[in-house]
Amino acid sequence: MNISIIGAGAIGAAIAHLVVKAGLNVSVANSRGPDSLAKLVAELGPLAQAVTVQQASEADIVFLAVNWSKIAKAVEGLGPWDSRIVVDTNNPIEAPLFKPFDLGGKTSSQVVAEMVPGARLVKAFNHLAPPLLVNPAAEGGKRVLFYAGEDAEAKSQVAELISQLGFYGLDLGGLQQGRLAQFPGGPLPGLNLVKHN
Ligand SMILES: NC(=O)c1ccc[n+]([C@@H]2O[C@H](COP(=O)([O-])OP(=O)(O)OC[C@H]3O[C@@H](n4cnc5c(N)ncnc54)[C@H](OP(=O)(O)O)[C@@H]3O)[C@@H](O)[C@H]2O)c1
Repeated sequence: MNISIIGAGAIGAAIAHLVVKAGLNVSVANSRGPDSLAKLVAELGPLAQAVTVQQASEADIVFLAVNWSKIAKAVEGLGPWDSRIVVDTNNPIEAPLFKPFDLGGKTSSQVVAEMVPGARLVKAFNHLAPPLLVNPAAEGGKRVLFYAGEDAEAKSQVAELISQLGFYGLDLGGLQQGRLAQFPGGPLPGLNLVKHN
């Protein structure tokens, strides 16, 4: 199973750190090309490599961590997705205005799923700010990470990765239920839950 991340900003870099800390390889891509990621890749160490967006899109599990208004452009021309897993870490709001985008009554993941037709989309890694996200071991327990999706097998693979990274994964249900963790609107974003045994 290989893992990539399209978007190497606050959330993409946080996830990359988690992946290499768990001893797994990760490929990262951004809009400016692999050379612009040299500093991040040096920080991440030998398990990380910088790639193009096209190369990143060919991984078994592709994290999408791009500013909401730029996602469509980031994934334009990629695919066929051939049932590979896309992890949607995105929320439909962005700086500097922080005005929610109009989703026409859909959840943000339903909108993103339409941009990557044929992929099995799992919503996750979107409810915590990066400083919390990079520390899955918390207060003597495991930080809770929500996930949601329509495909049970894809969810179970992402759930396994979530555990491997050190979190306690909590299945919210389908993409409609994923709205619970969507920012803004859901009651769960920012909620810092820790599971104690
Ligand atoms: N920050 C948070 O607290 C937080 C928490 C939860 C969820 N989220 C969500 O996570 C997503 C990413 O947020 P962020 O805070 O990480 O944003 P960010 O720091 O601004 O990083 C955005 C990344 O997206 C890349 N990107 C933009 N256009 C692209 C394109 N066409 N192709 C490839 N990559 C492209 C940028 O690359 P370049 O720099 O090369 O353009 C950059 O690496 C957003 O949807 C946000 O809602 C953020």
